Amino acid sequence: MKTPQDVVHFILDNKTKTPHHPQATAFAPSNIALCKYWGKRNTQLNLPNNTSLSISLGHKGATASITPRPATSHAIIVNDQTMDPNTEPAQRLSAYLDLFRFHQHAAYTLTLTVNIPFAAGLASSACTFAAIIKSIDALFHWQLPPTDLSILARLGSGSAARSILSGFVEWTRGTQADGMDSVACALPEQWPSLCIGLSVVDHQPKKISSRDGMQRTVDTSPLYAAWPQTADTALTQIKTAIQAHDFHALGKAAESNALAMHATMLSAWPPLLYSTPETLTLMQRIWALREAGMPIYFTQDAGPNLKLLFLASAQADVQAAFPTLDILQPFATRSSPHE
Ligand code: PMV
Repeated sequence: MKTPQDVVHFILDNKTKTPHHPQATAFAPSNIALCKYWGKRNTQLNLPNNTSLSISLGHKGATASITPRPATSHAIIVNDQTMDPNTEPAQRLSAYLDLFRFHQHAAYTLTLTVNIPFAAGLASSACTFAAIIKSIDALFHWQLPPTDLSILARLGSGSAARSILSGFVEWTRGTQADGMDSVACALPEQWPSLCIGLSVVDHQPKKISSRDGMQRTVDTSPLYAAWPQTADTALTQIKTAIQAHDFHALGKAAESNALAMHATMLSAWPPLLYSTPETLTLMQRIWALREAGMPIYFTQDAGPNLKLLFLASAQADVQAAFPTLDILQPFATRSSPHE
């Protein structure tokens, strides 16, 4: 079993291929990795070189509505705009929908509503592919378990595996060639006072996708060889900090892990720099505030925007320092750790 099609056939082997409803809708939260996934052991199946761990962003994410369409091609509408089928994001979404196309004239109309900037390093692809597979699962009434949904979401985008679940989510690297053991699971821990601040310095779609960026890093960075071990160490530190609700240990391990990932990117060739001058100014501001006693850390993905980590007890001070910050309490709106 080597291709995404093989994985889909394996998981859906004895499932119906006839829609159960005329239409289905599902939501998936965006997620921010505290321990990052960077680099693949299998590029076709999006199998990672390291285990990663994220926090889901509550109501920030994507809602996907899927309707069978008796046509040869899919229609994709994102935030009320029909996507040009010739663009790279449209082709990627279309190729993903093709995996779940069971008859020649059975395409889909996919309507996506994404309430975070699209493709700006705010994990929009993670929630998008997770919401799509959840809506397809609902359309056919397969009722797949979260582990299977995470495998199928991963075929669209690696980090989408983690957006199937809420709260703290660990996506295991796995060792099997077919990736059937590379699944996401929610941790039982909750941390109601933990806050995430989304600081958007740039709304523009990134110029180099994470997919291309991580491949370039794996292929050319002299620092990449150390990354899987660096990430494993961070993973242990982060899990221990979550269990102990030790905020400083969590913040330090997460910030350091993000900076280590960006160091591998910067040493790739051609060099890969997702930060803008505004990103660096913000980092220096956060370091200065921390030096002055404010308990605040950050993490950064494949884009210029930073995500700030702090506790509810510091929220007023953080909001005063960053008046435009979009603050989320990922655990405040959750009804169940495994929803
Ligand atoms: O899932 P992708 O291909 O968008 O890659 C995500 C990579 C990072 O956001 C930088 C890290 C992560 O673990 O989410």
